Amino acid sequence: MFEVLPLLPADPILGLSAAFKLEKNPNKVDLGVGVYKNEQGQTVILDSVAKAQQILLEKEDSKTYITPQGVQGFIDGMLTLLLGADHTALKDNRVAAVQAPGGCGALRILSELIKRCDENATVWVSDPTWANHIPLIGSAGLEIKTYPYFDQSTGGIKFDEMAECLNQVKKGDVVLLHGCCHNPTGADLSQEQWQQVLEIAQKTGFIPFIDTAYQGFGDGLDEDAYGLRLLASNLPEVIVAASCSKNFGLYRERVGLAAMITSSDKVREATQSQIQYIARGIYSMPPSYGGALVDIILNSEEMKKQWQGEVTDMRTRMQSLRVLLADKLREKGANRDFSFITRQKGMFSYLCITPEQVRAMRTEHGVYFVESSRVNVAGISLNNADYLADSLINVLK
Ligand code: LMR
Repeated sequence: MFEVLPLLPADPILGLSAAFKLEKNPNKVDLGVGVYKNEQGQTVILDSVAKAQQILLEKEDSKTYITPQGVQGFIDGMLTLLLGADHTALKDNRVAAVQAPGGCGALRILSELIKRCDENATVWVSDPTWANHIPLIGSAGLEIKTYPYFDQSTGGIKFDEMAECLNQVKKGDVVLLHGCCHNPTGADLSQEQWQQVLEIAQKTGFIPFIDTAYQGFGDGLDEDAYGLRLLASNLPEVIVAASCSKNFGLYRERVGLAAMITSSDKVREATQSQIQYIARGIYSMPPSYGGALVDIILNSEEMKKQWQGEVTDMRTRMQSLRVLLADKLREKGANRDFSFITRQKGMFSYLCITPEQVRAMRTEHGVYFVESSRVNVAGISLNNADYLADSLINVLK
């Protein structure tokens, strides 16, 4: 039976890691997959996570099944992190939520849920959006359309065009918004723009679907939740997919949350039963381990503080790397203005160069990043910044 299957191309993001390993250039630089790296290029386990692992090792006394929704302390801790402790939707018991296998698992089961609510719903995604949004949402059989977002000429957002498009979205359609640190561009909505998005949602009746995978990497843990909290406070329904891959560095443990802010406690109960039914039909229940670690961290004042400090360190380092690269490019006389890199947020920047130039960076200089020109800022270091700037200036000639 398998003979009918054609060979698919490598994943546009994950495929880069395999190609990078084979690269022979001694100066090679990996700016591909979105993982945080230290100055030595290593993705180490956070100290708070290492401590939580020790605690879990001592306290875990069974490997029996956990509840279908996942680790409850994880869910409660994450909802507080995302919405804030006093959020009205939490107080009114209007939030359905399950632990999910990573942000991807959350996006997938939430897409299935949208399909169950309205099989004709269209999901609107930003142009561009994270490449894996398309298969995750599309596999649920939902139609996907794009709204204008990134402005290649400024490195910012085409907000007027975005607003004009969202004003035409029909009631009940779903609009996927990146909570912070837009992947792939790093161009984020300002607080005023979030306010306008809220007003458009109130007017048109579209449902926001907020994907928040980088909370804490933009301006801070609370600051990065501004848009989500604003929409969740003022709209009856908001869908949220969150990931702990980046801010807890738990990539391989697959830890995420699928949350649905519903209009009432009664609707929440039915929604909770549905999302658990969907998860049961795909993977039954989430793996416990990563959620148990996040539970330990978020529910201990001392460990939470330690983790918050580590998030701050990662964020400030990435901000300084943005400045480092932009400064090097300016000092070395790049023939265009790259200062937008310093205004973008989080782990990624779009360099706004052509696919041919991206390929030249790879073949001529051993610098690997996604063909769209998305770079992982955390892959820049004091050691490679000169080489990166020189290589980029060279391919732009
Ligand atoms: C990325 O965007 O590089 C990461 O989120 C990894 C992935 O799964 O694509």
